[in-house]
Amino acid sequence: MKPLNIGMIGYGFMGKAHTNAYKQANNFFDCEYKPVLKALCARNRDKAEGFAKNWGYESIETDWRALLKRDDIDAVDICTPNNLHKEIAIEAAKAGKMILCEKPLAMNTAEGEEMCEAVEAAGVPNMVWYNYRRVPAVSLAKQLIDEGRLGKIFHYRANFLQDWTINADVPVGGAATWRLDAEAAGSGVTGDLLAHCIDTALWLNGGIKDVTAMTETFVKERTHADTGEKIPVTIDDACSFLCHFNNGSLGLFESTRYARGHKALYTLEINGEKASLRWDLHDLHRLEYFDHADDSIVRGWRSIHVSDGDQPYMGNWWVPGLQIGYEHSFIHQVADFLKSLESDAPFSPNFRDALETQKVCDAVLASAKQRVWKDV
Ligand SMILES: NC(=O)c1ccc[n+]([C@@H]2O[C@H](COP(=O)([O-])OP(=O)(O)OC[C@H]3O[C@@H](n4cnc5c(N)ncnc54)[C@H](O)[C@@H]3O)[C@@H](O)[C@H]2O)c1
Repeated sequence: MKPLNIGMIGYGFMGKAHTNAYKQANNFFDCEYKPVLKALCARNRDKAEGFAKNWGYESIETDWRALLKRDDIDAVDICTPNNLHKEIAIEAAKAGKMILCEKPLAMNTAEGEEMCEAVEAAGVPNMVWYNYRRVPAVSLAKQLIDEGRLGKIFHYRANFLQDWTINADVPVGGAATWRLDAEAAGSGVTGDLLAHCIDTALWLNGGIKDVTAMTETFVKERTHADTGEKIPVTIDDACSFLCHFNNGSLGLFESTRYARGHKALYTLEINGEKASLRWDLHDLHRLEYFDHADDSIVRGWRSIHVSDGDQPYMGNWWVPGLQIGYEHSFIHQVADFLKSLESDAPFSPNFRDALETQKVCDAVLASAKQRVWKDV
């Protein structure tokens, strides 16, 4: 096997999800390249050493620029808050490194464009971690749509609902709550949650033409986690938007962190002329499917337990009937990325694909601000 030396920046939620994927991908998928956990980069030396020891990284760095200078790093994995994606990615591209960047690609479209230009000028393989495409049930939805089983699509609707910021005492900024700070996150639920829904939608249903949106910030002031000062909250706590897809279908999207009882309820439903599909992250191994061609006396929603060997990715896992989980979407993404290196084929979603999502997010935020329809 050919080693692919990974330098990972950030060791939080995604640092763990990605590291787990690097460790497992070759055990389950036949790939020529094998990720090697070469270096972990984080600002705090003790914490970096602790993480590196626990997860098996060979070395640490405390400055990402030092990591990029190392000749023994092939690929840089950006697992930091959003405001660092652009600078790290551009410098990594200049250093000739492959880049695996967390989503959203950037703080806004202008930043994303610079990032695309940098990786394309450098000719380095690149990808963005929109991992939900690689949940087997979502991949199966893509297969059914591509096979024409839904026919003409009329409606696409998606929700991503959470409830963790209802309490006004949740602080803003700092290490744990940077998502509430526009300086670090760029936006609120739009870039954090709807970006996932938009990426999946663009993949399943094609491009979005125009949008009209509303956003709300329910808690206007919060205490800053580091300074203790009360500051205005400038992210969107909730966002809903309507859109037209290029294929003539209508889209309806909603995301909030104020839906009491919902923790990470990403759902999508697609209604076509011949059939409909729906999927729910809380029950992620199932794809619901309604086929109008079924005999009318038994016609109804089928709940497909996506665990059989001829369904996407599942032939590489356990025996039929045994399901897999959230972390496997990252393992699939790593395996597919490694295979793309073997064949020299571009990986998707790459920076250019993720830029399309960024454009929709920007149009959504601009529409909400100006209270008008916006072309994407
Ligand atoms: N694909 C997904 O489903 C998914 C899920 C969660 C988060 N994300 C994205 O992943 C990224 C990270 O989110 P997270 O939830 O892992 O955040 P997190 O807060 O858990 O971790 C962020 C990490 O970045 C580190 N960091 C911050 N500044 C740094 C610097 N200057 N140098 C080195 N390290 C630095 C922090 O110490 C921390 O280890 C974000 O862009 C987020 O949008 C994606």
